[in-house]
Amino acid sequence: MQPQILQFLRQSDGYFSGEDLSRHLKISRAGIWKHIEDLREQGYEIEAVPHRGYRLLSLPDKLYPQEIQQGLKANILGQKIIYHETVSSTMDEAVALGIQGAPEGTVVCAESQTKGRGRLGRNWISPKGKGIYMSVILRPQVSLSVVSQLTLVCAVGVCEAIQSATNLPVKIKWPNDILINDQKVAGLLMELNAEMDRVRFVVLGVGLNVNTPLQQLPVGATSLKAAGAKDLTRIEIFQKILESLEEWYLIFQRDGFKSIMPRWKELSDMIGKRIKFYDGKDVLEGEAIGLAEDGGLLLRNDRGEVIKKLAGDMVLR
Ligand code: BTN
Repeated sequence: MQPQILQFLRQSDGYFSGEDLSRHLKISRAGIWKHIEDLREQGYEIEAVPHRGYRLLSLPDKLYPQEIQQGLKANILGQKIIYHETVSSTMDEAVALGIQGAPEGTVVCAESQTKGRGRLGRNWISPKGKGIYMSVILRPQVSLSVVSQLTLVCAVGVCEAIQSATNLPVKIKWPNDILINDQKVAGLLMELNAEMDRVRFVVLGVGLNVNTPLQQLPVGATSLKAAGAKDLTRIEIFQKILESLEEWYLIFQRDGFKSIMPRWKELSDMIGKRIKFYDGKDVLEGEAIGLAEDGGLLLRNDRGEVIKKLAGDMVLR
């Protein structure tokens, strides 16, 4: 009922009378008033003027599903959105839903996470209402041998979404970091649920620092606001991420990663450069020469040997 009330208030330039709302929605005027009170509690600013009606003055800064879905230009991602104020990790929620058979494109999002996680056992700091913390369930029709490429595909999607929303110089750092001026603004995490030879589903986690103050972030990280993004709501950027992820996900399923590789290379800006690579054990130095079929990074060391790395961290020399 509340999404419908909001819909009427949004469409109207001025006031919308309680009587008209009650007639359209077939509930009493007292019932309408009760819903208006609930909406106010959720943070919607709604003015009520006797003999004129209700007027929507402002929206809350919350990632409510009805706000994300309002005007969302995506057909698969975000058709179903599960919202939490606080959750331990949206990854755990999404994996549980995936096991229960939730449809492809289901999104879990939260205002804050108490145990947000990143790659290689790291934490993802998730202060309340400051960032975007989401996990998306995907059910790609691809073989197990290529599913790891999906992280790179999604990095392109998130990178383009941020770029188009902010005009900031966004880059991908292999495999799944998104940087602005060499500072990390977003990270992607992919978790796979598979049988011996078949992908059941993938959960893609995206953490993006939007309005997070630098003091709350680890050294080397930034937020869109700190990097200079202007007048951006989390809802707008959330929508752009879902739209762009869907676009690249469909290209991946249709044409494979080879058609996305050129765009990935443009955005990554690291191929052909000299890097230092840490795989959790050893540090290697050499030139990043490209990507392997499975999304691994190909590195040529100073002896001319080509080494493939599937996990680790790299730094530009
Ligand atoms: C990384 O950079 O290592 C990946 C970070 C991924 C963080 C996101 S926030 C939403 C989702 N829930 C989590 O616990 N992690 C991912």
